[in-house]
Amino acid sequence: MTDLNKRIAESTAYLQTKLGDLKPQVGLILGSGLGAYADDLADKIIIPYTEIPGFLTATVAGHAGQLVAGRRAGMTVLAMQGRFHYYEGYTQAEITLPVRVMKRLGIDTLIITNAAGGVNADFAEGALMVITDHINFSGQNPLMGKNLDDFGPRFPAMTKVYDASLRQSVLARAEADGIDLKQGVYMMFSGPTYETPAEIHFARTIGADAVGMSTVPEVIVAAHGDMRVLGISCITNMAAGMLDEHLNHAEVEEVAGRVRGTFIRVVDMALETIAKER
Ligand code: HPA
Repeated sequence: MTDLNKRIAESTAYLQTKLGDLKPQVGLILGSGLGAYADDLADKIIIPYTEIPGFLTATVAGHAGQLVAGRRAGMTVLAMQGRFHYYEGYTQAEITLPVRVMKRLGIDTLIITNAAGGVNADFAEGALMVITDHINFSGQNPLMGKNLDDFGPRFPAMTKVYDASLRQSVLARAEADGIDLKQGVYMMFSGPTYETPAEIHFARTIGADAVGMSTVPEVIVAAHGDMRVLGISCITNMAAGMLDEHLNHAEVEEVAGRVRGTFIRVVDMALETIAKER
């Protein structure tokens, strides 16, 4: 057994014991400033990352570092309050271990969220964007190394990673509710620096609508395991050089907090859509 497989098995076994009868169906990764969603789950079980054998620990402000399981909008969810980033020094195989564990726990749908910089000039700070596709510009891939054949093939297609039917349902429901959801392509830079204006010009030129430092590795691993994916970016700022402003993490958290209400409604709509289909 590879070391990674061993860690996945250890974390999974521990969580199965902790969760007992609560069988999560949907995984939720909550980005910077968006963690509050998991505070209002029913029948909540909280498991700090530090407690889970084989897991990793979060190091970034705004990321609580715990799993929260519970029920909401007709579904049982397992939420990550705080995720792991490539720029923290972990490998991409490591930061995506929680997605492998979710798959092992029987989760077949991943709702993944992040704070992102807006690259599309039609966007504004505080917008929410449903991800249609991504550009992996991180310079790495979480599937490098020995393939985990039990999860998926060596060369998985990335053609239809972001589930079109789930996305369309959420967009339609949001529109009916008067919520202006954007759609677009998310491009991952490794970070931890914010981008230069020249990099943002490049990003726009090659077709990105938003940029960030996460999400793509987790989505690749979810797709490898044939999970359904819905991605939501909170545009916390316009990207470097688009406005005359200085980017900082405090602003990212502050704006994410400001759109919290709308963000929660959109995630609820996604869960309700999934619940209705079952
Ligand atoms: N760039 C990269 N990551 C980000 C940004 C940004 O402008 N805003 C929030 N996360």
